[in-house]
Amino acid sequence: MPVQPDERDAGDDPCVAVPARPAAAHWSRALAGWAVPDHLEVASTARGPMRFDVARFARIAEHALRIDGPSRQRASEVLEAGGAVLDVGCGAGAGSLPLVPPAGHLVGLDLQPDMLAAFAARARALGAEATTIEGRWPDDVGRVPEVDVVVCHHVVYGAPELATFAHALAAPARRRVVIELTRRHPLTWLTPFWVALHGIERPTEPSSDHAAAVLAEVGLPVVVEHWDKPRPAEVEDSDEQVRFVRDRLRLGPERDEEIRALLAAHPQPAHREVTTLWWDVG
Ligand SMILES: C[S@@+](CC[C@H](N)C(=O)[O-])C[C@H]1O[C@@H](n2cnc3c(N)ncnc32)[C@H](O)[C@@H]1O
Repeated sequence: MPVQPDERDAGDDPCVAVPARPAAAHWSRALAGWAVPDHLEVASTARGPMRFDVARFARIAEHALRIDGPSRQRASEVLEAGGAVLDVGCGAGAGSLPLVPPAGHLVGLDLQPDMLAAFAARARALGAEATTIEGRWPDDVGRVPEVDVVVCHHVVYGAPELATFAHALAAPARRRVVIELTRRHPLTWLTPFWVALHGIERPTEPSSDHAAAVLAEVGLPVVVEHWDKPRPAEVEDSDEQVRFVRDRLRLGPERDEEIRALLAAHPQPAHREVTTLWWDVG
């Protein structure tokens, strides 16, 4: 078998190859298993590229203001009044808006300009200064200012190079980095839909424990906190859910009734098992 770029020969035996960073290699391989099969991607290109829905994430951001959990606590406890927070993959700001106050300046970085507009409007409505950066992490780490805390919520299952991604999160942080992610891949609940509508099984890995192992492997002093997060009831609008499933499974509207029936049998859970990963910097 060819030796992969992330592998090296072990010890004295040139025939035994082990990954130089087994946790990182496992994370990337497991994430690759979630790729949508090529034939479905090709068939769906006419429907345009996949984007995150700003209305959905605006509601998630507003709901986040009512939730007190480890992610919010770990970030706020090291912020002084008026402190600065960078929110990477900010969406509409669910990771950082709940930190105002004590935070007084929120910097949001996201790929989508519509998310940045939703984020900035909400940050200013809370009385915070807002700075937006349209960019891609970690490529645009050089464009962000130094801040007290960096938060990054529900982005890392899209980061196959997680160690590089996480090291970049620490670069602008004076005090702490706080990552939130679901215990399992966020699209795990769609597995029965894939089986019923495409006859395709989905992977069961990676999990947040694998993410924590990647960070520990590169020497980041990561602390792991698992908890249950209530889902906002307003996000459960049934047309929106049908559209969500249709887009994720690369289907056309002619399958909506089947999706509706499956949603009745396999509703999105009311609580999400999530994990907060955090570490102090410096
Ligand atoms: C699932 S949403 C999470 C949004 C928000 N953090 C939250 O918790 O509601 C992921 C967001 O990250 C952005 N995103 C994904 N990968 C990114 C990357 N490499 N760099 C910057 N933004 C990214 C997407 O555009 C989207 O707005």
